[in-house]
Amino acid sequence: MTKFSRIGFILAAAGSAVGLGNIWKFPYVTGEYGGGAFVIVYLLAILFIGLTVFIAESYLGQRSEANVATTFVKTSKSKNEKWKFAGFMIFAGLIILSFYSVVLGWILNYVIISFSDLPNSSKLAGETFTNLISKEIGTQILLHSIVAGSVIYIVLKGVKDGIEKINLILMPMLGIILFGLLVYALTLDSFSKALSFMFVADWSKINEDALLAALGQAFFTLSLGIGTIMTYAASLPKKANFVKSSIYVALVDTSIAIIAGLIIFSFLFEAGAQSAAGPGLVFISLPVIFEQWGTLGNVIAVSFFVALVFAGITSAVSMIEPALMFFIERFNMTRRKATVICGSVFYSLGIVALLSMSTAYGDNLTFFGKNAFDWMDFITSSVSMPIAAIVTCVFLGYFVEKQKLQEAFTNHVPVAVFNIWYILVKYIVPVAIALLLLNKLGIIQ
Ligand code: TRP
Repeated sequence: MTKFSRIGFILAAAGSAVGLGNIWKFPYVTGEYGGGAFVIVYLLAILFIGLTVFIAESYLGQRSEANVATTFVKTSKSKNEKWKFAGFMIFAGLIILSFYSVVLGWILNYVIISFSDLPNSSKLAGETFTNLISKEIGTQILLHSIVAGSVIYIVLKGVKDGIEKINLILMPMLGIILFGLLVYALTLDSFSKALSFMFVADWSKINEDALLAALGQAFFTLSLGIGTIMTYAASLPKKANFVKSSIYVALVDTSIAIIAGLIIFSFLFEAGAQSAAGPGLVFISLPVIFEQWGTLGNVIAVSFFVALVFAGITSAVSMIEPALMFFIERFNMTRRKATVICGSVFYSLGIVALLSMSTAYGDNLTFFGKNAFDWMDFITSSVSMPIAAIVTCVFLGYFVEKQKLQEAFTNHVPVAVFNIWYILVKYIVPVAIALLLLNKLGIIQ
């Protein structure tokens, strides 16, 4: 099997982690929950829960050098074939990818808008966005096809020539654009306001929902729960330090979320706009602000949306790879055949997702009060991913020899680090996630 270089792995895993979750979702959820206190809860969720599961997935992948299903069978004490069912998690990747590709399509649309006709009022901006997602079916299908086509083109080339290469190009470019935007934000008077919004805690805003949102966000942003990190770590060189690599990736991911937050809130506060605008923050509030800044605004708008596209594409390829590796290894398929199958699945589901938001077909694609798009999000983020994370933790805590785990860790890090991780993985994290899951399903409150 071709392997990443160590830095290639870190870049690819960071490329997977840094995505729409960092630049679009993190700022708007932070805005909705009032800033600082939410950020602190989020950082704790990353440190204690997200990082624990991230290290778990990295360990498993690196150890087995195989697809998700085989990984569980191979690393279990019993070597019981039944563990292959843990491979269920890869399907969540295809489902997430289908609507992620649709959202990336919207962003492509905003790259185009940013060159010339940005909306000059909030009302117009709102209409532009609503029209796009509810009326312009043809445009959306075209944009979704462009995104899906690019993802398929990249993964067809494989781990080394496709995934590693694209990350090697796009991640530094993303870094440069964000750095530029941050420097610009620093020149604005409102930067200090953004800083205090994000770091001064107002605990009155924190309720149970905020805790759940923080935990869910920590999971999503680190690409956990569908086998992405496991699959990438299967291509991590055998000798590489999987604990340290995991920490680097979590650090890069967290820094970029914080930087994106600072940039966006500086822009919003500069224009006196609301921080709690929800999902429309990036699509509705920002374009109006960019418009007010004239030509400079166009330049900033283009840079911002291009950065989102880069971040999103490197995440998108990481959602399909676990399924590809699974089909290639377990069913002896060529990469081409696996890509055609998985590509058709997520592409078609994406069409269903976008149609379900349209005025024309929405009603037919709404079931029990949720449209298909929201169902796909719910089934993955609220059901499959938490279950997968619990399975992974319980597996490592109870069905893998502790001795072997400890050896793998102590090759790289002090035994104290292992002990802390082991307690987290065996007792604390599965319980915390189970509470999240039960709560989201409405079983407990
Ligand atoms: N982490 C990415 C983001 O923040 C999304 C992502 C990529 C993802 N791969 C994943 C989410 C696997 C869940 C599982 O946008």
